[in-house]
Amino acid sequence: MKTLILPSDAAGLAQAAELLRAGEIVAMPTETVYGLAGHAFDERAVLRIFEAKERPKFDPLIVHLAQAQSLSDLAGQQVIEPAAIPAALHGPLAALIAACWPGPLTLVLPRHARVPELVTAGLGTVALRVPAHPAARALLAHGMPLAAPSANRFGRISPTSAQAVLSELEGRIPLILDGGPCSIGLESTVIGLEPGGEALSLLRPGHYGAAELAAIAGVPVRPAKIHPAEVLAPGMLKSHYAPDSSLRLVESQAEIAALLAQASGRPGLLLLSPNPELQALAEARGGRCLAADGSLASAARGLFANLRALDGLDLLIAELPPQGSGLAHALRDRLGKAAAPKPD
Ligand code: TXA
Ligand code: MG
Repeated sequence: MKTLILPSDAAGLAQAAELLRAGEIVAMPTETVYGLAGHAFDERAVLRIFEAKERPKFDPLIVHLAQAQSLSDLAGQQVIEPAAIPAALHGPLAALIAACWPGPLTLVLPRHARVPELVTAGLGTVALRVPAHPAARALLAHGMPLAAPSANRFGRISPTSAQAVLSELEGRIPLILDGGPCSIGLESTVIGLEPGGEALSLLRPGHYGAAELAAIAGVPVRPAKIHPAEVLAPGMLKSHYAPDSSLRLVESQAEIAALLAQASGRPGLLLLSPNPELQALAEARGGRCLAADGSLASAARGLFANLRALDGLDLLIAELPPQGSGLAHALRDRLGKAAAPKPD
């Protein structure tokens, strides 16, 4: 199959919508990462997503919607079962929807029977998000809810540009809509309901931190005890977002020179802020040094693209941000998984 890249203008969007209506899948830009989209209510399309990504079927997908202003909106779109949501959480969820959508927040809620089990991996819940990227919104405006995981092969680095999607999925999908580089660069924060019905749980850190969401919702947002996917496949998801090269993580730039002195080969350095001495050291060894501008936002925006650019060098070393919430937590989470030992 030939994979086309089209700009996300009216013609590109029309072609993407036509493919989606026919049960095909299309890569689309979002503000977080590029997604691999298929009609969420069309099982053929959802199956194609799993096949193109080589994603195991136990890992559920996020359903993207054009808009939703309330829980009753979501019920009207036949994606959730509001009666199954504890009454005490209706207000907090409404507040999150009002404050964070469209945007980088995913809510895991009791699933409507209309959502195929393939989308939710047989779970009683469905993950939902209203993305903010104008091209994603324009595509969703064609009236199809879109199941869309990140548009990478399973376990690999998430794509934040159309070219990165091409390098992951060329020949496997018909179309990539190019909406430019993603402005956030890390996947959405995923929140679920705590079993007790009085609090929310953080299933995946992202742009929004737990404390920030708790302040909006007015109820606690606590670390999830166990991620549902881990129950089904213990340990399998520890390695994720992974480059082919081996990756070492350091708490500060001060550790890097000593590490370089011990290692051989071409190093790839990923720093939170520029460091001309380390850059010179890396380049003298035939390696590269890529640095954010000192802000967490730029580190997040560049993380996956930089990991991709450095992949193939002999040893990658990445600087972790100090412990924190929001983007600091999310960056440590993604880097930790990228550096974890791979299953095989
Ligand atoms: O920013 C994003 O969320 C991007 C863009 C494309 O929207 N999408 C994304 O999808 O990151 P994916 O499939 O790479 O990650 C979805 C995450 C997985 O960790 C999955 O296990 C979790 O959401 N998830 C989905 N449905 C769930 C459910 N019913 N219960 C618990 N976790 C769920
Ligand atoms: Mg992913």
